[in-house]
Amino acid sequence: MSRSNRAVRLRAVTPLPRRAVSLRKVDEAPLLSAVRAGLSAAQKTLPAALLYDDLGSALFEAITYLPEYEVTRADLRLLEAHAAEVGRRVPGADVAELGPGAGRKAKVFLERAAGGAERVFYAIDVSRQALVDCRRTVEQVPGVTVRAVEARYLEGLGEVVAARRPGVPLLVLFLGSNLSNFGRDEARTFLAEVRAQLQPHDAFLLATDLDKAPAKLVPAYDDAVGVTAAFNKNLLVRLNRELDADFDVSAFRHEARWSQAHRRIEMHLVATRPVTATVKAGGFSVHFDEGESLWTESSHRFTCDELAGWGRAAGFVVDAQWVDPAWAFAHSLFLVPKETT
Ligand code: AVI
Repeated sequence: MSRSNRAVRLRAVTPLPRRAVSLRKVDEAPLLSAVRAGLSAAQKTLPAALLYDDLGSALFEAITYLPEYEVTRADLRLLEAHAAEVGRRVPGADVAELGPGAGRKAKVFLERAAGGAERVFYAIDVSRQALVDCRRTVEQVPGVTVRAVEARYLEGLGEVVAARRPGVPLLVLFLGSNLSNFGRDEARTFLAEVRAQLQPHDAFLLATDLDKAPAKLVPAYDDAVGVTAAFNKNLLVRLNRELDADFDVSAFRHEARWSQAHRRIEMHLVATRPVTATVKAGGFSVHFDEGESLWTESSHRFTCDELAGWGRAAGFVVDAQWVDPAWAFAHSLFLVPKETT
């Protein structure tokens, strides 16, 4: 899945041209203001959304195959086990996925939940290349028509809701524990915002990683091959390319930290020596002391009760929760009540 502040996007719900991974520049102004603000904070930070340019999205896709990163396999196991049941609980629904990436999970879901029936699948992602890959994967499922929406989650969902088929329920998928990358308050607000766009008979399937021992989690974010390190460092490569910056990528090392207080993994890039970089597009420089870090992502862990409470607070009915026994990971099925007061 991919999230970015990218302002450039296609007309919604259109077919996408097939093309190779792009290194094109995106609208500089929002990127520059986010980078300027983050690099001038006391704890230097950047929005995690910036990790997902086309190369970052491809590196994240590679992460999902790492032996240490059991998150995606747990998600897939639950889809294989329960997608047909979800399909029965939300019969006849068209499906929208927020951040489908290359569409692997959507394909597994639709093969089991739609059972060959005619369905529209709306793929909402900020990465054009992810949408191209997703279309290629999901259009293999008989009966499914794919509509690509190049947009951020809620904007894309708004466009899907405006274009949805009258009288056909909508099931929104938010898989891959993408909720992990929101702060807890932000996550609760996000659920309410999704709920506000849905109608009676619609549903929301939320897949999230659960609390577990840090000894299991930290290697998932600091793999032996170094793919996660490359994913993290690509952020600096992106700034060099898109903002004409001159970060020496070799002067930073990747670090994954567990915060017990916040129940989250934090990804940092730590300067291995004093380093100064200039962001030419913004006309400013930034200095890192040796050991100083740039905080690039947080990945929160949850409990089933916490998620159910958030679902209810957002105005959903909690219809079911399933947990993978091998790697604590949950699917929560939230329904929009038929009668709302
Ligand atoms: C996309 N998201 C759910 C991933 C996660 O596990 O937080 C992003 C990721 N970052 C490093 N590895 C994976």
